[in-house]
Amino acid sequence: MSEQRPREKWGTKLGVIMAVAGSAVGLGNFLRFPVQAVQNGGGAFMIPYFVSLLLLGIPLIWIEWAIGRYGGLFGHGSAPFIFDKLWKNRVLKYLGVIGVFGPVVIFIYYVYIESWLLGYAFFAVSGKLLALSTPEAMKGFLLTYQGLSPGSNLWTAYIFFLITFAVNTWILYRGLKGGIEWLCNWAMPLLFVFAIVVAARVLTLVVTDPAHPDWNIINGLGFLWNPDFSVLGDSKVWLAAAGQIFFTLSVGIGAILTYASYLSHGDDVVLSGTTAAATNEFAEVILGGSIVIPAAFAFFGPVGAAQAAGSGAFNLGFVTMPLIFGRIPLGELFALLWFLLLFLAGITSSVSLAEPAIAFVRDEFNLVRSRAVSFFAVATFILCQPAIFFLGRGVVDELDFWAGTFCLVVFALAETIIFVWLFGLDRAWEEIHHGAELRIPRFYRFIMKYVTPLFLIFILGFWLIQQGWPTLMMHGVSPDNVPYVLATRLGLVALFIGIAGLVRLAYYRRKTA
Ligand code: PHE
Repeated sequence: MSEQRPREKWGTKLGVIMAVAGSAVGLGNFLRFPVQAVQNGGGAFMIPYFVSLLLLGIPLIWIEWAIGRYGGLFGHGSAPFIFDKLWKNRVLKYLGVIGVFGPVVIFIYYVYIESWLLGYAFFAVSGKLLALSTPEAMKGFLLTYQGLSPGSNLWTAYIFFLITFAVNTWILYRGLKGGIEWLCNWAMPLLFVFAIVVAARVLTLVVTDPAHPDWNIINGLGFLWNPDFSVLGDSKVWLAAAGQIFFTLSVGIGAILTYASYLSHGDDVVLSGTTAAATNEFAEVILGGSIVIPAAFAFFGPVGAAQAAGSGAFNLGFVTMPLIFGRIPLGELFALLWFLLLFLAGITSSVSLAEPAIAFVRDEFNLVRSRAVSFFAVATFILCQPAIFFLGRGVVDELDFWAGTFCLVVFALAETIIFVWLFGLDRAWEEIHHGAELRIPRFYRFIMKYVTPLFLIFILGFWLIQQGWPTLMMHGVSPDNVPYVLATRLGLVALFIGIAGLVRLAYYRRKTA
């Protein structure tokens, strides 16, 4: 085997924070968060949300950054062989397969949804979108775009998908510093400016509907911020909150692990990790929470907003928002800013979803970046097709559930146990603090050792008992969709086995080298 090349490194300290914040701030902040909040009772959701942030999200950030940086010291940037380095055991590297598999699966549907935003940005300025003035017409536009209404086709969506996919590939091809870091360094500030402008516009909307004098922005904010303690006993809300925390912070799936593997050992992970997380939370609860929810509430009232959120994950962002923009002066401009900001948030996240698989083939098979990226692009391009063509058959929902919810919890639990219990709390604590200017409060030792893993086991156990069997048996799936959902699951199993096969191959090649 040829000599290992030195691994790529980030350019600047700020660049790493921008890249990690870029990964975290994504469609999850502006589209997924409001839907979760509305579906789970607004103010009722925010309590489990913040509890999960403090007990799961924040500890996992430190754990994942530290594990990733540690793996990078040995030339490994993805979970299978990082896990193997942390604790020698034959099966651990196969558990690490989730850290390559999960991001690839999320990438498959994430890029497609990201491409809708580019399409919608285009239609926002072409005037086509804002000319539609009823929810039915706006919903019809979305269904036609997705190729889901009778007689519609996917040409337009497919062209925007091709462009989006090509831009992603190009950024990845340009490398860590010249591609990802470069992108995040300009896209992050820009998207914050856009988000602040859109949020300011929404917060100053004066909506006067004589029939509903209480439908206004202030009450919309109150819907999210008036705490409601009555549903704290409802475990579904806790599950949704924990899932949202992982998804939005990009932890528990392997993305941050890979980004952190490009750090040097002396780089601070406590401060950088905390800063990136704080940036994400600002974008989520302050900006994300000040746009869609108050706007939907002011125009459509509590019931209308909940209906929009309940009738489809994309309706608030793609239906309700353009309807509102159609009713205000300079609506085109604000609609353009809204969809562009989402597109930028999306692309800075999708490149981070691609990086674990790219790092895996590069590090373990000693490929140059360009070949690793080509390999990744061909494979994921093929894998994207079912998500595009069978969207209406529940394929995306299925991918999102297994990779975007289930794998997150399992992988987060694996990371915590491996690092804190097997690698050992004292060593883990020392590793996290290596090069750190700040010290984490000592009670987090207790949280990391007991609270975080128990909380995760509880969530997982609860899911298995309550929903495991019905989910496996596809109880909620309509009979027409069953073959597609089944095919998706078999495809996922095949993909997992395929990646596990590559891990095995890499392991034996290394042993015999
Ligand atoms: N955090 C991203 C978002 O909020 C999504 C993401 C999840 C990215 C997991 C990377 C890893 O949209």
